[in-house]
Amino acid sequence: MTHAFDKNYWEHHWDDRTSHSAAANPYLVEETAGSTPGTALDAGCGAGAEAIWLAGQGWRVTGADISAAALDAAARQAGAAGVDVTWIEADLTSWTPAEQWDLVMTHYAHPSIPQLDFYRHIAQWVAPGGSLLIVGHLHDGAHHHSHGDGEQPPHEATVTAKDITALFDASWRIDTAAERSRTVVGTGVHSKTLRDAVVRVTRLI
Ligand SMILES: C[S@@+](CC[C@H](N)C(=O)[O-])C[C@H]1O[C@@H](n2cnc3c(N)ncnc32)[C@H](O)[C@@H]1O
Repeated sequence: MTHAFDKNYWEHHWDDRTSHSAAANPYLVEETAGSTPGTALDAGCGAGAEAIWLAGQGWRVTGADISAAALDAAARQAGAAGVDVTWIEADLTSWTPAEQWDLVMTHYAHPSIPQLDFYRHIAQWVAPGGSLLIVGHLHDGAHHHSHGDGEQPPHEATVTAKDITALFDASWRIDTAAERSRTVVGTGVHSKTLRDAVVRVTRLI
């Protein structure tokens, strides 16, 4: 692997950013449509677009990320939007939160541990009756080693919907397991197609 995807990598990633998208991930918007607001954790929230959007829907949201630079940007965006979110700087691979949430969500977070281990780890933080929403880079069979705008996601961060659903036993209900494509406008006139695995599961007990 080219990068360690550790705190140092992610601080540089966010320090280098001059602008931040305020648009929430469309799969979060789809997957929470019609749900009753409760408590939520955004694991690897980056600059906070999803946490801020969900808080605007009436949820009590905590956004957690390893990068202080990302959380600074997130807090500024929340302030501008007039929305309250609790921001926590933590390495989620070793963090032990004191609570569980009605919704734990993660969009493209890829830490230094194997991707599926990360999903298994954060699933512990879902309260009984609550849900876990995972949006990850879809595994397309090729090996990529870089990460950045206009580039392919790194191979080790990619997953399939089947990889993810295999993590969950009968104490979970699989609500969504899909592989989706969408086109986003990048910098300048370029647009790119993102291919994602989208999985939502509910903890039954
Ligand atoms: C590709 S960004 C995605 C950010 C945001 N969720 C989004 O969809 O735009 C991955 C995020 O995961 C965070 N991250 C990586 N490893 C982490 C860890 N061990 N603990 C907490 N956050 C981590 C990074 O700092 C970064 O903000």
